[in-house]
Amino acid sequence: MTVDDAARPAGPARPDGPARPDGRPAADQARRAFPDWRFAPNIGNNPGTYEIENRALARAGHVIDGMRRLAPWAGRTIVDLGCGTGFWLTTYAAEAGRVIGIEPDPALRAKAAARTGALPGVQVAAGSAEHLGLPAASVDVVHARFAYFFPPSGDAGLTEVLRALRPGGALVVVDNDYRWGEFATLLDASSSEGARKKADATDGWWRDRGAIRREVHSEWAFDRRADLEAVLRIEFPAQVADSWLARHPATTSISYGYVLFAVVA
Ligand SMILES: C[S@@+](CC[C@H](N)C(=O)[O-])C[C@H]1O[C@@H](n2cnc3c(N)ncnc32)[C@H](O)[C@@H]1O
Repeated sequence: MTVDDAARPAGPARPDGPARPDGRPAADQARRAFPDWRFAPNIGNNPGTYEIENRALARAGHVIDGMRRLAPWAGRTIVDLGCGTGFWLTTYAAEAGRVIGIEPDPALRAKAAARTGALPGVQVAAGSAEHLGLPAASVDVVHARFAYFFPPSGDAGLTEVLRALRPGGALVVVDNDYRWGEFATLLDASSSEGARKKADATDGWWRDRGAIRREVHSEWAFDRRADLEAVLRIEFPAQVADSWLARHPATTSISYGYVLFAVVA
């Protein structure tokens, strides 16, 4: 969940499936339509492994509970901005009145559409933070999970999200906690500038925009050691992942802190 190309290495590309079934022309077209799209190598190159990662995050339920507390979506219209392969769309659909997944990457978007095709009230659309393609004041909640496309240069995207939200609606963003948990030590080991500096900059960016900040202390818990290894290797440079794994030879979980930021329209 760490793609943040301003703050940390993207990790090695370890394709575990057809990364770009739509081919380069579709990606080039998307780049022209959505110049703020930043390719996410973790999920973009490894959608199958990222699915395992999402399942490991979902197991504890701490993040979704924290998001729900900040902005409940039961019966409401919710947007998952940067929905990737649509892992979370089915969870939102269980409660929401309407669910809209927005994703600039055509290959990931196709997977999200295939996953949710039979679900009533769920729609998957091409778009990006700066180009939502939604009417003004038309949605109640916008989620952005691992939204590295906001700080430090995301004011246009934030303005666009606030335009689409109804008054009183909320944007809820999930970011990494760069200070707490074993995962933060890996972030720090991967970062040239240091995780503490990144944390201060991210907190400051959201604070200046009036965001509420909530910490969520959780973990990734995997069924198998091999899954933990595969996921760490799509998120971190090999030497960082391998060094941590060597120091924790038996574990199938890792403590992980998140920070949720919420901006109310
Ligand atoms: C780390 S992935 C997380 C995917 C998904 N939110 C999840 O948690 O499973 C980040 C996602 O943001 C998308 N993305 C990149 N730039 C974006 C932008 N400017 N606006 C919206 N989404 C963007 C990527 O294509 C990718 O699907």
